[in-house]
Amino acid sequence: MRHQTIHPPAEPGTLNEAEVRGTAVPPAEFRSVMSAYTTGVCIACSLDEDGAPSGLTVNSFTSVSLVPPIVSLCIGLGSRTLMDFRRAGVFAVNILAVDQIPLAQACAARELNWEEVALTTWETRAPIISRAVAALDCRIVADHEAGDHAILLGQAAKVGWLRRDVAVLTYHRGRYGTAPPELEIPPGA
Ligand SMILES: Cc1cc2nc3c(=O)[nH]c(=O)nc-3n(C[C@H](O)[C@H](O)[C@H](O)COP(=O)(O)O)c2cc1C
Repeated sequence: MRHQTIHPPAEPGTLNEAEVRGTAVPPAEFRSVMSAYTTGVCIACSLDEDGAPSGLTVNSFTSVSLVPPIVSLCIGLGSRTLMDFRRAGVFAVNILAVDQIPLAQACAARELNWEEVALTTWETRAPIISRAVAALDCRIVADHEAGDHAILLGQAAKVGWLRRDVAVLTYHRGRYGTAPPELEIPPGA
């Protein structure tokens, strides 16, 4: 696994110190503007040192490469679960359905009772949530630190749909929502 720290771009003489450190954009403004970008909601799961499920709610999940199939997750450096992900070397991304808001909330608040969640495993030992819409079972192939987050790159060992017929959960402007499976494309568009 490669470890690399990505620093903000520094052009001597063109940026002041605050800009180089990235403080020219206040965190609240950055968070607000990023909330305009609608995402899905996932629970990323791995295993703790005792082999028990460990996970966090994420919306920083994205596809990186098709061949080989690689995805990324950004996890706060202060996160407890980040240590578990790094130790286990694997994670599963579970893409949530609209009826899984309580699961997303409990996981984000660290109040999830994993014994009440139906789980399975695929290729790696990472927990797959049986009632997720779809999941990707990954091995960590790179780990970069950027600012206050780690970017974990995972190569999918197996991917699959679990509930194709259900609407997904979305996150936009700090609120949960959902997306219709398809939109009408206006004539001539
Ligand atoms: C919708 C939503 C999306 C989130 N996305 C992320 C994320 O991408 N990365 C992250 O580090 N935390 C994210 N969080 C916060 C974590 O789920 C939460 O703070 C978590 O419990 C991390 O702390 P822990 O790993 O120490 O338990 C998100 C929370 C919510 C509700």
